[in-house]
Amino acid sequence: MRKHIYIIGMENLMKTKKIIIAIDGVSSTGKSTMAKDLAKELGYTYIDTGAMYRAVTLYSIQHGFFADGQIDEAKLQAAIADIEISFRFNPETGRPDTYLNGVNVEKEIRGMEVANLVSPVAALGFVRRAMVAKQQEMGKAKGIVMDGRDIGTVVFPDAELKIYVTASPEVRAKRRLDELKAKGETASFDDVLENVKMRDHIDMTRKESPLRKADDALELDNSRMTIAEQKEWLLEKYNDRSRNR
Ligand code: DC
Repeated sequence: MRKHIYIIGMENLMKTKKIIIAIDGVSSTGKSTMAKDLAKELGYTYIDTGAMYRAVTLYSIQHGFFADGQIDEAKLQAAIADIEISFRFNPETGRPDTYLNGVNVEKEIRGMEVANLVSPVAALGFVRRAMVAKQQEMGKAKGIVMDGRDIGTVVFPDAELKIYVTASPEVRAKRRLDELKAKGETASFDDVLENVKMRDHIDMTRKESPLRKADDALELDNSRMTIAEQKEWLLEKYNDRSRNR
């Protein structure tokens, strides 16, 4: 039965009009993996907006805009128009890599240095306005799956399908801990849990575009779902939305 739904989904994909799919939610829910897989399934373009804020952060590190972990806002503001971010499909990984002014920075932006400094950069109004303008431009042709924190609320408030992903802090901490372990890093569960809760708090209470569920977003709590169940759920929602248009 499950397979059947899936196959019908695939048949419909090519016939239906392309839409915008906005995926928002708290950190460490597997949002990006979900969005990438969905995009691949639908033949859509995947856009990771977190990678864009990470690339701006990397640029700021490379240009000495940080002192004692504090960003020099004036320097970044003066340089923001010179920051060019793009995505190019990597046939080896089957996923897009992030480019900063023509250089592949996919690896650097995933490192701890960038991860530790990105939050204050993503909270700056002028950075957000510049990124949102780029994101809206990228989505003009539709046929995109975009993931982030403000896609359904700010970037594409009219997106045809909006998903808000959550999972309990404990489940997310466990997932992050497993990821860290796989990379050979060590951390305690309590520290990771604390970090997950702190990031939720920062994302939800910041002044500029705080993380919140759009009124018309469908909530997906994937605490107890397998990747396959989640994919099926998403394809069902996509098919419902396409049918009802
Ligand atoms: O999803 P991520 O961990 O790669 O996001 C990196 C940072 O950027 C994180 O602090 C949240 C922020 N972000 C944001 O403010 N708005 C977005 N649309 C995407 C990410």
